[in-house]
Amino acid sequence: MNVLLAGGAGYIGTHTCVELLNAGHSVVIADNYSNSCPEAVARVEEITGKSVVLYEADVCDKAAVDKIFSENKIDAVIHFAGLKAVGESCEKPLLYYRNNIDSTLTLLEAMEKYGVNNFIFSSSATVYGTSDTMPLVETMPTGTPTNPYGMTKLMMEQILTDTAKARPEMSIVILRYFNPIGAHESGRIGEDPNGIPNNLMPFITQVAAGRLSQLGVFGDDYPTPDGTGVRDYIHVVDLAKGHVKAIGYSADHKGVEIVNLGTGMGYSVLDIVKTFEKVNNLTIPYVIKPRRAGDIAVCYADASKAEKVLGWKAEKNLEDMCFDSWNWQSHNVNGYK
Ligand code: NAD
Ligand code: UFG
Repeated sequence: MNVLLAGGAGYIGTHTCVELLNAGHSVVIADNYSNSCPEAVARVEEITGKSVVLYEADVCDKAAVDKIFSENKIDAVIHFAGLKAVGESCEKPLLYYRNNIDSTLTLLEAMEKYGVNNFIFSSSATVYGTSDTMPLVETMPTGTPTNPYGMTKLMMEQILTDTAKARPEMSIVILRYFNPIGAHESGRIGEDPNGIPNNLMPFITQVAAGRLSQLGVFGDDYPTPDGTGVRDYIHVVDLAKGHVKAIGYSADHKGVEIVNLGTGMGYSVLDIVKTFEKVNNLTIPYVIKPRRAGDIAVCYADASKAEKVLGWKAEKNLEDMCFDSWNWQSHNVNGYK
């Protein structure tokens, strides 16, 4: 298939692009580089030995999106193009609502105009809100996300569900990601956040690289085995392969399907620190800090639906994730710069 990756120059988009190209699909990327750079796409081409059709475009821009659909025969769209910093979304809610929702509406309108029916959406475990019941199952009612970023994901899931009802010819797969970390085994592509990282793994790798002095562990008084927060970390290459499976699934199915992409395993912040230290033979200095506002104690997936419906299961373990994260960061101390 010819797949349009909106936001395909970013962290998950580049890894998905590699797996799609390796599986024999062709790829068109549209990205405005608000959180990425063209070098990342050049490296995807280097890894795969295949080329990508690349547009510098804001997918909220109707004319720019129309041009892409008119110049390429698109079979399916994967929508990664979102702003994702939780803290920033509290400071600039309108920016987040405008970018994340407008991009979705613009893509769906163009798909309707050009008769494109297959849509894969990057959602998040954040839509479950602050549920205490684990693991999280797709059939559970969604909760109230604690920030505007999470609210945009919940709203877009509703927009997509309504769209699928009104357009029965469509196939919409909503993928709820848990915590993607790791990098391609080549060490050529990986996560390259702007400024000081919000997320745990890029913070750890930047401490290891000497860019930051120590990790702050946000709370050690949660009701978890070691008191630190527990999450379902998933290797980004496994996550990327989940998208290839979703593309295959969408070719034969209609309607909306919501699927968790996680491993089903929960690890604490200190599990991550200790595993990272062990596999990379490094020491990560850390201090315990107060809990971070909006954080929950534990979050992990019931990953069985992905296996049943998509035939997908995460294959890489925590050691792989920690090894590959450092392999990327140590070979690219300043990211793509
Ligand atoms: P990323 O920031 O690396 O990638 C997003 C890409 O979209 C970037 O290249 C950015 O430049 C681009 N973009 C943003 N707005 C755009 C617009 N209007 N037009 C064109 N391009 C635009 O983030 P990521 O980690 O690769 O995440 C991809 C998607 O997955 C996002 O929607 C994110 O919310 C979602 N998600 C990510 C995580 C995570 O932990 N990484 C977890 C759950 C969900
Ligand atoms: N943490 C620290 N120190 C840090 C950063 C994080 O101790 O410097 C802890 C957090 O308190 C949490 C765990 O590490 O217990 C993971 O935190 P992340 O910020 O890496 O990830 P979150 O689970 O908070 O959120 C991520 C994405 C969200 C997404 C969510 C569910 O950032 O966008 O996963 O998919 F919604």
